[in-house]
Amino acid sequence: MNDSLTDTPVVYPDFDSITTVTCVGAGTIGGGWAAYFLAQGFRVKIWDPAPDAGEKFSRLLDAAWPALEELDMVAGADRTAWSVHTDLAEAVTGTGFVQESAPEDLDLKRRLLSQVDAVCDPGIVIGSSTSGYSMTEMATEAAHPERLVVGHPFNPPYLIPLVEVVGGQESSASAVDWAADFYAHIGKSVIRMDREVPGFIANRLQEALWREALYMVEQGEATVEQLDRSITDGPGLRWPFQGPMLTFHLAGGEGGMAHMLDHFGPSLKSPWTRLTAPELTQTLRDDVVAGCDVESGERTIPDLVRHRDAGIIALRKLTAELAATHGADAAATAAAVPTEPTPSEVASDRAESLPVYLTEVSEDWIDYNGHMSEAFYVLVFGFATDQVMDHLGLDADYRNSAKASLYTVESHIRYLDEVALGSQLSVVPSLVSAGEKKLHLAYEMYVDERLVATEEIMALHVDQSTDAVVAFPAAIAERIARTITHRPEWVGRAIG
Ligand SMILES: NC(=O)c1ccc[n+]([C@@H]2O[C@H](COP(=O)([O-])OP(=O)(O)OC[C@H]3O[C@@H](n4cnc5c(N)ncnc54)[C@H](O)[C@@H]3O)[C@@H](O)[C@H]2O)c1
Repeated sequence: MNDSLTDTPVVYPDFDSITTVTCVGAGTIGGGWAAYFLAQGFRVKIWDPAPDAGEKFSRLLDAAWPALEELDMVAGADRTAWSVHTDLAEAVTGTGFVQESAPEDLDLKRRLLSQVDAVCDPGIVIGSSTSGYSMTEMATEAAHPERLVVGHPFNPPYLIPLVEVVGGQESSASAVDWAADFYAHIGKSVIRMDREVPGFIANRLQEALWREALYMVEQGEATVEQLDRSITDGPGLRWPFQGPMLTFHLAGGEGGMAHMLDHFGPSLKSPWTRLTAPELTQTLRDDVVAGCDVESGERTIPDLVRHRDAGIIALRKLTAELAATHGADAAATAAAVPTEPTPSEVASDRAESLPVYLTEVSEDWIDYNGHMSEAFYVLVFGFATDQVMDHLGLDADYRNSAKASLYTVESHIRYLDEVALGSQLSVVPSLVSAGEKKLHLAYEMYVDERLVATEEIMALHVDQSTDAVVAFPAAIAERIARTITHRPEWVGRAIG
């Protein structure tokens, strides 16, 4: 990696000054990136030679936007703020970052990256979505290889947080740092690699698994459907919470990884023996394609995309909530040990949790004792209720159009511990019970794993034009019915 190529150090843009991002190539991955950038509030300029690039992206955006609304959308994001350009120079004018996602063809990438480099201001970093080429191989024709980096996403980039960032031999460390920080700034989970490794980290792992799966199909040892179910009903259930290393650490029981390796060492070698890639013959290709058709049955590709996206959304919400509530360890425990389902969980196979509210204690919340003043506990609980209302559909649009809102008529706060300036607060809401016109809510406020306050409220749904307490409309009642109910043991506890 090189930082001395340029005599005067290049200054890359401040993240806050970036309004526009360019996507070169807008197929499955480039289109997914474009959707994500739009949801992050950027204007997106697309350059793609396919005559139907705009229509294809429009369809992808239709599928991606609801998922983005659930998870990763910033206020003010505009799904119409995109344009397709036929002139590359025009597509990079005013841009703050370029993401290249053209087909995986080394010659094409080399040519294309040098073309993009030629028309782009030298202060702009260019990231490539390549699944496996190194930037050292791809940057050979570019005049400014120092600002070219790999930013390898996972499909779909609008939902999967991981981006692997790595430079080539000619990339400057500052460009790689800038790209890693930029992806993190827009909400991605970034692995910044110091070395170029073919396929990066996650692709090598998933390809190792797929290679073995193809081998087993070729040998007639397992069907496509058996292979998929062996993961989705097996180890795949652990992977959102613990990767392959911690998974095997636990497989060693109380002795952990040390016991695992020492005790099982010799026998571990047997599944490692055949890690050879099968020949990708026409027969193997046809068997795998036919197996996928059988497994998909009546489900079309858009059906499968919807199913996948709904699952990822639910899992990301769950993992964020577990991490915010109890930290990584408890998230793991909760994943490993199923808890008794509540009646509403049993009643609904689409049960949802309420979103955790996160905030930081600011200076003006601190009283003369140096701790958060009691008024601001109320304020934070109030913000958590606003978030619950938004989640249930009782949001500003609803309040304006229906002229109805949720009124808190009773509350009870317990101040359990002091909270210092700068503390990160997570407020975990629970729906204790719901009536056709009222909600009983409970909140636990945490700093890390320390419970610092609780609040219990009773709120009524009020028609503001008549001041009458009225039933929730059907769509909101349905959302409430889908919400998991939970009664923390302290609810209803008297003072003292
Ligand atoms: N599909 C995946 O799961 C996945 C995951 C991670 C990374 N990637 C990488 O992302 C890149 C794009 O893959 P994809 O799956 O989106 O492919 P894709 O075939 O869906 O899309 C490629 C797009 O590039 C356009 N294109 C063709 N020639 C071009 C050119 N000269 N300049 C600009 N655009 C051009 C095509 O019209 C198409 O819209 C590849 O480098 C791939 O390795 C793919």
